Amino acid sequence: MHIIKVENLVKRFGSITAVDNISFEVEEGTIFGFLGPNGAGKTTTINILCTLLSPTSGKAYLNGHDCNSESSEVRKSIGIVFQDSSLDKDLTARENLVFHSYLYNVPKTERKERVEDALRFVDLQDRADDLVKKFSGGMKRRLEVARGLIHRPKVLFLDEPTLGLDPQSRTNLWEFITGLPKKHKVTIFMTTHYMEEAEVCDKIAIIDKGKIIASGTPQELKRIIGGDVIYLKTDDNKKAMEDIKNLFDVEVSEKDGEIFISALKGDACIPEIIREIGERVLSVRMQRPTLNDVFLKLTGKEIRDEVASSGDSIKETVRSYRRRHD
Ligand SMILES: Nc1ncnc2c1ncn2[C@@H]1O[C@H](COP(=O)(O)OP(=O)(O)O)[C@@H](O)[C@H]1O
Ligand SMILES: [Mg+2]
Repeated sequence: MHIIKVENLVKRFGSITAVDNISFEVEEGTIFGFLGPNGAGKTTTINILCTLLSPTSGKAYLNGHDCNSESSEVRKSIGIVFQDSSLDKDLTARENLVFHSYLYNVPKTERKERVEDALRFVDLQDRADDLVKKFSGGMKRRLEVARGLIHRPKVLFLDEPTLGLDPQSRTNLWEFITGLPKKHKVTIFMTTHYMEEAEVCDKIAIIDKGKIIASGTPQELKRIIGGDVIYLKTDDNKKAMEDIKNLFDVEVSEKDGEIFISALKGDACIPEIIREIGERVLSVRMQRPTLNDVFLKLTGKEIRDEVASSGDSIKETVRSYRRRHD
């Protein structure tokens, strides 16, 4: 069953087209990754699905309900972890969860049990009575995920869940997130601009400048590359790129001072390149394609690992979300 269905969705902010006619579906109980650089339109799409924004045109359905006209039905079906933390730092972990269970009308008889379950689930039961402001970034994220699950949503939205976390916490959080669909029968809709993180997804859509430029499983997407990836440094990359293009039937581009070649059989291709332009080659390496390579091939640019600004638009979204739930 398709728990999310998006048809020809468009969102404009004045002259900016943040979401430009996208369509996709998400299968229930899977992890869906929405992948793209900053400003691609990921958060805007999530906000439409979460009923926080109305689309300019097109349709979005969640759990069979129209995200624009049946917002209260949709809201009952979702949990959200925002790009920026929206925990109350002056409350304890447990208080944050209890407060949330009030907001979402969790039945009184179940409140206590669900809160304790959630604390245990994210391994924070020992810290339940500590103020959130004393928590590390990773602990706060785990608590937010726990909070997002308390009302048993059908879909959990995670907008850049690992942003600002150290590598260790990122790895831990991913292990935890990937276990969620089985444990909680929940569908995960996540965004990230860290390409390697999307490897855990069952299906990925790559979005750039508001448009979905590719979608499929991580393996399917990597097949777009069609073979291996060769990185080459030479004394004159421009000249070498021209020569390689003329000599071999391969696609060539440049990034960070290295020539990027996608080749069907890299191990056969390298000796030939060395034979032809070997004296100008400073270094050469070959690897299996990554999702980053896929993005580079499709757009001619790399997803830059820049720190996303905690823009005012997101803070305003959180505020309006809270207003609606007060
Ligand atoms: N409330 C808003 N008003 C005007 N422009 C916006 C607003 N929200 C987002 N945008 C613009 O829409 C584009 C997509 O933004 P966003 O969906 O936040 O991208 P992402 O989450 O992929 O980084 C960007 O150009 C952004 O500046
Ligand atoms: Mg965003």
